[in-house]
Amino acid sequence: MAYREQIPVDHGIDNTVKFLLEGYRYIPNQSRRLHSNMFETRLLGGQKAVCLTGEEGASIFYDNDKFKRDGAMPPRVLKTLFGENGVQTLDNQAHKNRKELFMSLMSSERLSDIAKIFKKRWSEFLDDWEEKDEINLYTEANKILTITVCDWAGVPLWGNELNERTKELNALFEAGGAVGIRHMQGRASRQKAEKWAGNLIDKVRNGELDVPQDKALYKMSWHRNLDGELLDTKVASVELLNILRPTVAVSVYIVFCALALHEHPEEKEKLKMATNENDYKIFVQEVRRYYPFFPVLAARVREDFLWKGHDFKQDDLVILDLYGTNHHPDIWDKPNEFIPARFKDWEGTPFAFIPQGGGDYYQGHRCPGEWMTIEIMKACLDMMVNHMEYDVPTQNLDFSVRRMPSLPKSRFIMTNVRKK
Ligand code: HEM
Repeated sequence: MAYREQIPVDHGIDNTVKFLLEGYRYIPNQSRRLHSNMFETRLLGGQKAVCLTGEEGASIFYDNDKFKRDGAMPPRVLKTLFGENGVQTLDNQAHKNRKELFMSLMSSERLSDIAKIFKKRWSEFLDDWEEKDEINLYTEANKILTITVCDWAGVPLWGNELNERTKELNALFEAGGAVGIRHMQGRASRQKAEKWAGNLIDKVRNGELDVPQDKALYKMSWHRNLDGELLDTKVASVELLNILRPTVAVSVYIVFCALALHEHPEEKEKLKMATNENDYKIFVQEVRRYYPFFPVLAARVREDFLWKGHDFKQDDLVILDLYGTNHHPDIWDKPNEFIPARFKDWEGTPFAFIPQGGGDYYQGHRCPGEWMTIEIMKACLDMMVNHMEYDVPTQNLDFSVRRMPSLPKSRFIMTNVRKK
């Protein structure tokens, strides 16, 4: 008989409240306490769930023969953050077909386009910031990224639509890990945003709106499923929002880039002296490793299997710890210190550094927007380090490990902003 053992258990009828209270640290805390990278808990109404943290756990989580995504995501997340029937919920060939659509948008030309658009828009905002006493970087970054991604994706913004669309896209990702009013705002915004995106898709399909063929709006409108049919308008609108929403969410990383520059002036000096782009990239990678963003991912067991002495049963819920893996002491030296140089000659596996998921982009669910995120963050650093000066007045820059997504309390206020 195969070797089996009881994995440690975080006892309790339902640990959801504990999960929400400890936030990003729930899995790392229990894993340390129970001396195991795998433990059992009960979440989301008392469902049994196996939590995995660390590289080995991530690599098994991304084994498509063992896990599926169908039925894994809590409905409250689908009603706000992701939308229903999007790429996140698909498996097998249907997922592959949809994922290729996203990856087809990520050519090197299109990645360099978004960085150029972003810098141009940032520069325009900078003119305006020079006239103001103070600016809130998070609010401004949300607007810059909404204009940038709409331009990049071929999505028109008419009249003074910018503020409304920014608010809606922001509410979608702010609601993902929220309860109460923030969650309700997310639900309302999802309905409005899907209606808006659906209208755009209809207009492209009936010839009212002409969009270049390499743009996301065009591709979402004309993509065909495995059965040769166009995507249902609602699904196409969910997928268009799957480009717009997360790009605007890069605002969170922009604020963390600003915070890291502020808290590590010696690293800012290094960037000023940088002789190649890699110096920017290692800073960006460390921001994505060190600061919290996406806490965990969920999947369900396809068929019974045995791993490390534990029987995984069909349909069991399995949760992968992204934040904890990015701080895991078995992978990272001094995991709780901000050290960009660690990425200089980093040769980790695709399961060790997983702020945007791990594994293979085409075969699995790893974030198709990861390269785009990195390009935008590099562009933001270039603007902040080389093209402007600013003061950072006293403010509360603490960020909570409970709030998802986490953000500095003040959202990063800058004064005396001027062009360089
Ligand atoms: C703000 C920075 C971002 C973070 C922290 C982030 C994080 C993630 C994570 C953790 C996943 C799930 C991986 C998995 O399920 O295995 C994911 C998937 C995804 N992301 Fe991102 N992402 C970001 C930016 C972007 C951008 C800029 C785009 C699009 C332009 C994007 C589009 C997507 C899509 C469509 C998926 C679903 C992929 C699939 O299910 O196959 N993300 N992202």
